[in-house]
Amino acid sequence: MSQITVNGIQTAYDVHGSGEPVLFIHGFPLSRRLWQHMVAPLAGRNTLIMPDLRGMGQSQATSDATMATYADDLAGLLDAIGQKMPVVVVGLSMGGYVAFEFFRRHRDRVRGLVFADTKAEADTPEAAKGRHETAAKVMAEGSKVVADAMTPKLFAKIAPDALVEEWRCIMSATPPMGVAAALKAMAVRPDSTRTLPEIRVPTLVIVGEEDVITPPASARTIHAGIATSQLKTIPDCGHMSPVEKPETIARMVGEFLKAC
Ligand code: MLT
Repeated sequence: MSQITVNGIQTAYDVHGSGEPVLFIHGFPLSRRLWQHMVAPLAGRNTLIMPDLRGMGQSQATSDATMATYADDLAGLLDAIGQKMPVVVVGLSMGGYVAFEFFRRHRDRVRGLVFADTKAEADTPEAAKGRHETAAKVMAEGSKVVADAMTPKLFAKIAPDALVEEWRCIMSATPPMGVAAALKAMAVRPDSTRTLPEIRVPTLVIVGEEDVITPPASARTIHAGIATSQLKTIPDCGHMSPVEKPETIARMVGEFLKAC
């Protein structure tokens, strides 16, 4: 693990392999460990950059953040490690929300996009209100509140209990301040459906067939809005495709990167 200060924040990240760069953005409230199984299959052809977003994993937390903060942190990280080449951005779920913002703010740095188990729509007012309430609860009672609520929804029915438990523990260990900041950031995130027609770089949309958090219909909306996109669905897979079906997603991303 490497650490570097980006925008005043101690940021944890890994870089693996060499070749054209790929930036991996994990979901909420997860960590770069989400991408651990991508290293062996993909590092032979590409430089894989895997940070922890601020307030998650081993990166320092702040009490507030927005999608813009996360996106600018990532651009700052690329600068700090001297990565000047445009990147393929791979974002899962909240990582996809950040990827949309990264595209809006730093589009000359984007060579391609992979949206995994994510959606383009903003929160409804009710959902946003719920996020703010949960953020307050997390600050009072800890991250377990979110871990316990999310765990039953994350995985397909056939996922092994040990895998589900591993990720419940990772979510519980995320600092409450980072979890609350991310909840508030997601609540006010912009609607990215308007961004879809502006995306003209090669794009891969991936979704687990049993994803109930960002279901296949959301993936179809992203695919329908981006003329340069392709859509792949993974059977027997929920919201956590990189750890539920690592070989499948690595093959899909690997083929995409070769053609990109
Ligand atoms: C995620 O997996 O990143 C989040 O659950 C996404 C969300 O809550 O909208």
